[in-house]
Amino acid sequence: MQRLIIEGGKRLSGEIELQGCKNSALPIMAAALLCRGRCVLRHCPEITDIYSASRILNCLGAECSFSDGTAAADTAAADGTEIPDALMREMRSSIVFMGAILGRCGECRVSIPGGCELGARPIDMHLSALRRMGTIINEDGGSIYCRIPSGRARGARLTLPFPSVGATENIILCAVCAEGTTIINNAAREPEICDLCGFLRSCGAEISGDGCGRITVEGVPPEKLHGCTYTIMPDRIAGATYLCMVAAAGGEMILKNACTAEMEPFLSVLEQTGCSMCCTGETVYLRSGARLRAVQDRIRTMPHPGFPTDAQAVLMAALTTAEGTSVFEETIFDCRYRHTEALRKMGAEIDIVGRAAVVRGVGRLHGAEVSATDLRGGAAMVIAGLSAEGTTIITDISHIDRGYEKIEEAAARLGGRVRRE
Ligand code: EPZ
Repeated sequence: MQRLIIEGGKRLSGEIELQGCKNSALPIMAAALLCRGRCVLRHCPEITDIYSASRILNCLGAECSFSDGTAAADTAAADGTEIPDALMREMRSSIVFMGAILGRCGECRVSIPGGCELGARPIDMHLSALRRMGTIINEDGGSIYCRIPSGRARGARLTLPFPSVGATENIILCAVCAEGTTIINNAAREPEICDLCGFLRSCGAEISGDGCGRITVEGVPPEKLHGCTYTIMPDRIAGATYLCMVAAAGGEMILKNACTAEMEPFLSVLEQTGCSMCCTGETVYLRSGARLRAVQDRIRTMPHPGFPTDAQAVLMAALTTAEGTSVFEETIFDCRYRHTEALRKMGAEIDIVGRAAVVRGVGRLHGAEVSATDLRGGAAMVIAGLSAEGTTIITDISHIDRGYEKIEEAAARLGGRVRRE
């Protein structure tokens, strides 16, 4: 099993060009199934979740290949409707292939998806919406059998009880070739949804309202959709991660190809820690002085454009050595503090009170041997290791590799001493 060895306690300095966005590329790869042609995805991150998605496409009869940060998916011959359980379990995003397969074939068989263990992650909103669009769904021992008797979904007026990212994506994918119009009220407004819709519009889909909470999809005949070449947006959470590396360890960095507008909900909180930041176009300049300040206001994770839940762990790692006490409130997932045990092992003082995490800043963390619990929790341990005194060893780093392109190389570009063995 691979692990990361981090020699911490050194100020950082360097420049990073942001990778393509995992949570945008994954639904877009599912969407390629709808296009019956060749889709070229530029700036596609080279991470294990993307390789899982390409295995799913290949399993469905498409041909998916990678070279130098570009994915090419030819789905002309894709006629599969079943995804093996083992592939479903590799990541959460496998569930959005359900909407895409239904949109293309009118039937599918999937199972409960995998992904980070963040508490209960049901798919009731996905299934309820697809039923409203004419899908008959039977669940049997973990398998989910879907069939649209008419072969083509019908448009529906839907209101999501919560702006679920995955449910919004599944509905869009099923609605693109449906008969009639689909309206999604209380739709997720995440930038990755807008990127998915941008890709689908490039393929000939008729979608509007993405990013403002009410999405309208005018169903088009399947033959209207065609392949395209599309550039995936930058990964705002990876960007937050690298900025927190320097904020925590001290130093300065230039983050290039950043999506500064989409990162604003995070940047506005990071600025409260006392880091000096300047954003010009798609570049963020950050300088971190001697010691961060605790964030005075409660840091409450919310659907976009609120503070992103995916940045909670990485910002917390940086605030463990801030002057004062910061309080997080995780409102999206019911078990997203599993990384705090590792941070405490490194000397952090964190108390969990219900959905709140109270982080009392300590002078310094010290190195320890810890195990990554999930994708962003593992990244938080890398951040803590870079700022800690001494050596930190992180095991179970496959969690981290699901979402970050060689995180040790990114840290090295900042002058961090991180090696994989
Ligand atoms: C997506 O997960 C992201 N993953 C997550 O990023 C991100 O944290 C999350 O959106 C919120 O922004 C991908 O895009 C691959 P949700 P998703 O459906 O779609 C509940 C990362 O680190 N819910 O918006 O699973 C659910 O349990 C990952 O990159 C239902 O109850 O998130 C959760 O509490 C982690 N029923 C909340 O809604 C449903 O049918 C938000 O889930 C669906 C969701």
